[in-house]
Amino acid sequence: MLISKVIFWVFLMDYLKELEGKSVHDCYQQITMNKIGSPIFVPGPVIVGAGPSGLAAAACLKQKGIPSLMIERAECLASMWQLKTYDRLRLHLPKQFCQLPLMPFPKTLPSYPTKHQFLAYLKAYADHFDIKPAFSQTVVSAEFDHVCHLWRVKTLKKEDRAEYVCQWLIVATGECAEEVVPQIEGMEEFDGHIFHTSLYKSGSMFCGKNVLVVGCGNSGMEVCLDLCNHNARPSLVVRDTVHILPQQMLGKSTFGLSMFLLKWFPIRLVDQFLLLMSHLMLGDTDQFGLRRPKLGPLELKNLYGKTPVLDVGTLAQIKNGKIKVCRGIKRLSHNAVEFVDGKVENFDAIILATGYKSNVPSWLKGSEMFREKDGMPRKAFPNGWKGENGLYSVGFTKRGLLGASIDAKRIAEDIQRTWKPEATL
Ligand SMILES: Cc1cc2nc3c(=O)[nH]c(=O)nc-3n(C[C@H](O)[C@H](O)[C@H](O)COP(=O)(O)OP(=O)(O)OC[C@H]3O[C@@H](n4cnc5c(N)ncnc54)[C@H](O)[C@@H]3O)c2cc1C
Ligand SMILES: NC(=O)c1ccc[n+]([C@@H]2O[C@H](COP(=O)([O-])OP(=O)(O)OC[C@H]3O[C@@H](n4cnc5c(N)ncnc54)[C@H](OP(=O)(O)O)[C@@H]3O)[C@@H](O)[C@H]2O)c1
Repeated sequence: MLISKVIFWVFLMDYLKELEGKSVHDCYQQITMNKIGSPIFVPGPVIVGAGPSGLAAAACLKQKGIPSLMIERAECLASMWQLKTYDRLRLHLPKQFCQLPLMPFPKTLPSYPTKHQFLAYLKAYADHFDIKPAFSQTVVSAEFDHVCHLWRVKTLKKEDRAEYVCQWLIVATGECAEEVVPQIEGMEEFDGHIFHTSLYKSGSMFCGKNVLVVGCGNSGMEVCLDLCNHNARPSLVVRDTVHILPQQMLGKSTFGLSMFLLKWFPIRLVDQFLLLMSHLMLGDTDQFGLRRPKLGPLELKNLYGKTPVLDVGTLAQIKNGKIKVCRGIKRLSHNAVEFVDGKVENFDAIILATGYKSNVPSWLKGSEMFREKDGMPRKAFPNGWKGENGLYSVGFTKRGLLGASIDAKRIAEDIQRTWKPEATL
């Protein structure tokens, strides 16, 4: 044990000596003087987050013979998919746009796999590439040490703290790391249950109840449909404009068709086509309180990252009056909600489908790569994957799993250029 520790430190000293123009002795002292115990040197990249993006990055690295350490705060892979999604969830995009690099979905899966099928695929993916994350460890800080020229990554596991040092740091904590929970006046007075969609599983417990769903992204729309299917009486708060598109057009997925058309036509023309088809297939959504933004769906996504809603049946329930559309909320009281248009209605529960946000600024320190405001890379897609000093991001493209796969491949190729296999312990 002692011998292996000595070998480790001798190696670390040798490794650090290689780093140009640095005071190895100072650096060694700084690392060993750490109050939280011996830091652990990781010869390859440290990947923060064991969701689909982290797995994709680890697999692409593995294929190039580069080992990595993956750190995950939850006790399982893809915790967002396992713990924070509702039962009826399916991929909204066809499976060929959601598969991770180097391992396609099984042919037997339907075009739009269920969340359980997607999770089984992710588990098989991790097994195939022998990816074994360090679970239940939250990265509480990561900072580049300009003396050592290494990243210092600090983690917390219950009471235990650890520190890892590495040359490359890959941020894979996701665009949906934390729930957005708005503060609404009177929230504390409301008698019913108020909770975020990340805790919603199914509408079975809301049979016969009046439920207000706040937010009309894909989550809010789908939760409303699920509530209808369980004989609840949902109302949907739509405070602003929204693009609703059919999931399929002309026998093809709307997403696939858009990707194809974008190869040949400018984005505005493709948007006009999408809006024309949507009008023909769904009718004028304005008359149901779902006003469309001035910019087209693809342009809006490109410029502001706002995802259009792919309709999986909710609109039909809005049209037939089973789902009511309401304007923004003014305030809550004991069992009622007052809306900005002055209407007051009683509700048994409120579900916040108000989205998610990145948590990167809470733990990544001293880096220019991510914006403080929203935790997204400053550079827009396709340039947001690479930062300074061996820092990378995977899955922050506002382009879902497809964007994550593109990032993962680029990162592995880039790290391969500086990777020295002899540095492996
Ligand atoms: C309901 C829902 C449905 C969706 N459906 C689709 C879809 O059909 N298609 C699509 O392309 N996209 C979809 N998305 C978008 C979704 O974000 C991506 O599919 C995918 O989960 C992104 O993977 P990721 O690995 O980047 O992030 P995540 O899946 O969020 O994984 C990030 C991981 O990092 C961990 N983590 C976070 N902070 C820390 C920390 N400080 N220390 C250690 N670990 C940390 C988290 O626990 C998590 O396991 C959906 C999102 C939601 C909310
Ligand atoms: N099956 C699937 O594939 C599937 C299912 C669900 C979600 N998703 C994906 O998961 C990601 C997150 O989706 P999401 O629907 O959870 O979040 P989202 O797309 O960010 O939508 C959040 C919604 O909440 C609204 N909102 C926020 N704060 C509000 C407030 N205080 N009052 C009223 N409305 C408020 C927003 O309105 P504004 O626009 O006005 O801000 C927006 O309509 C997206 O990428 C989405 O596509 C995919």
